[in-house]
Amino acid sequence: MSDDTRYHKLEPGAEAHDGEPPEAPRWYTLDALRQQPDRSSLLRFLFETVLVLAVIGLGLKIALDSGKGYQGPNNPRKDFGFVDKLFMNESKYANEAAFADPEQLHKTLAEWLPLSSKGRGFVRIPEDQRARLDSPPYLLNPLHRPRAEETYMVSGLHQLHCLSTIMDSYAQLRQGKDQAELGYHIAHCFDYLRQGIICAGDSTLEGNNSMKYPGVEIPWGTSHRCADWGAILEWADERTIWPFPPGLDIL
Ligand SMILES: *[C@@H]1O[C@H](CO)[C@@H](O)[C@H](O)[C@H]1NC(C)=O
Ligand SMILES: *[C@@H]1O[C@H](CO)[C@@H](O)[C@H](O)[C@H]1NC(C)=O
Repeated sequence: MSDDTRYHKLEPGAEAHDGEPPEAPRWYTLDALRQQPDRSSLLRFLFETVLVLAVIGLGLKIALDSGKGYQGPNNPRKDFGFVDKLFMNESKYANEAAFADPEQLHKTLAEWLPLSSKGRGFVRIPEDQRARLDSPPYLLNPLHRPRAEETYMVSGLHQLHCLSTIMDSYAQLRQGKDQAELGYHIAHCFDYLRQGIICAGDSTLEGNNSMKYPGVEIPWGTSHRCADWGAILEWADERTIWPFPPGLDIL
């Protein structure tokens, strides 16, 4: 009898639950070990599900936001998309002969013209589309037409104009012509380009491409992610106020 009692105390599941199936013994360490991973893997599954949903949600948000383009004070700055471009030496845009010879300089500057829009960056923005722009338009008349027009300038095209002006001025200095009266404009251009470069913040990492392009200087030959300049020109051409006549080589 007393032996029986001790035996039942060790297996309470089999004890005194009339009619009910015996309970599994809960104090076995082995069983406890089997139970624990089940609960934690459920928690882990829930946690991972939440994580996956969060990643999908964030991805969707980024995808949707990138479609909306830039959301800043000058909103809406249009999103023209990107293209990958190889930076390469293109001497038609800049060469030493142009610094020495007026004719070569004229020829070289003429190569820059197709890089600008028909209106050299000046565009018409209708009044009902100006609400969220940073500033009211200029009133300008660059071609001395009967009346001035309200216009905006596309900054990248202004930057291009500045660079070609600096090149022109530098070449003329090298050719012995006094550029003193242009001093203010040129100083403005240096400062404007400084800010444009910092704003664009091209963080492409350039390495040594000498193997791929023998004879070409090291930084050339690196691919950059660039604004789609063609799309910008197309947009600016559609909004041109004054198509500049061909041959007028002020960029
Ligand atoms: C680039 O530089 C190389 C090496 O100096 C030269 O041979 C080549 O003609 C240049 N290409 C252009 C398009 O200027
Ligand atoms: C670039 O690579 C070329 C070809 O391998 C090598 O001759 C040259 O020394 C390298 N230049 C630098 C600055 O690493």
